[in-house]
Amino acid sequence: MNNYVFIGPPGAGKGTMAKKMAEEFGYTHLSTGDLIRNEQQKGSALGKLADQLIDQGNLLPDKVVIEMFQNFILDNPTKVGYIFDGFPRTPEQAKHFSAFLLKARIPFTNAVYLDLPPHVSLARLLKRAEIEDRKDDTKETIQHRLRVYDAKTKPILKFFHDRGKLLTIDAQGTPEEQYARLKDALELKTV
Ligand code: AP5
Ligand code: MG
Repeated sequence: MNNYVFIGPPGAGKGTMAKKMAEEFGYTHLSTGDLIRNEQQKGSALGKLADQLIDQGNLLPDKVVIEMFQNFILDNPTKVGYIFDGFPRTPEQAKHFSAFLLKARIPFTNAVYLDLPPHVSLARLLKRAEIEDRKDDTKETIQHRLRVYDAKTKPILKFFHDRGKLLTIDAQGTPEEQYARLKDALELKTV
């Protein structure tokens, strides 16, 4: 069993790459962003809390997201492995993530950093805004999300690097090019 964390700025292709790996190899994909947006649609208490944060591009409290992650693991056992897309996202979340996996005897393989320049993130997400209705895909909110990413999430790259667990992938180019690079780096073979 292999388990991966995908880290990268908004628009880096975390979701796109995770979906491809889930489809081709059977990985279980956890996107905390998708889970939160589901709660918003349901209008749950968590969804209402999210309404005030996610649409403006701010992070939800660590405690809330850590609990969401733990519940997801308990509800979704896997033999192939997990892809954690967008979690952990702060040093506090990274600490809890590592401790939880250890306790649950789930091996941790690598954190994969999808490296993308901010102007490409912005261009991709403005394009998505024309097709999908994500409230946080306006120019100002995307720029805010990029700042939140720099301030809160980038420090966890060091956390994984210090543990010898960080792989970096160039996230530019087409999704197919990016996916080929990812499979090379993770040594995943198409059969
Ligand atoms: P989340 O849903 O994780 O959003 P994000 O990190 O801002 O990233 P995106 O989903 O926009 O981008 P992505 O990297 O997945 O790229 P994608 O494949 O979609 O989080 C949203 C919010 O939820 C946060 O702001 C926060 O409020 C909350 N949240 C989530 N996790 C949290 C946590 N752990 N703690 C606290 N709060 C949390 O691709 C983007 C677009 O580009 C798509 O249209 C796609 O088709 C296109 N595309 C992808 N790859 C390529 C390519 N190679 N070339 C061209 N286009 C491409
Ligand atoms: Mg995503």
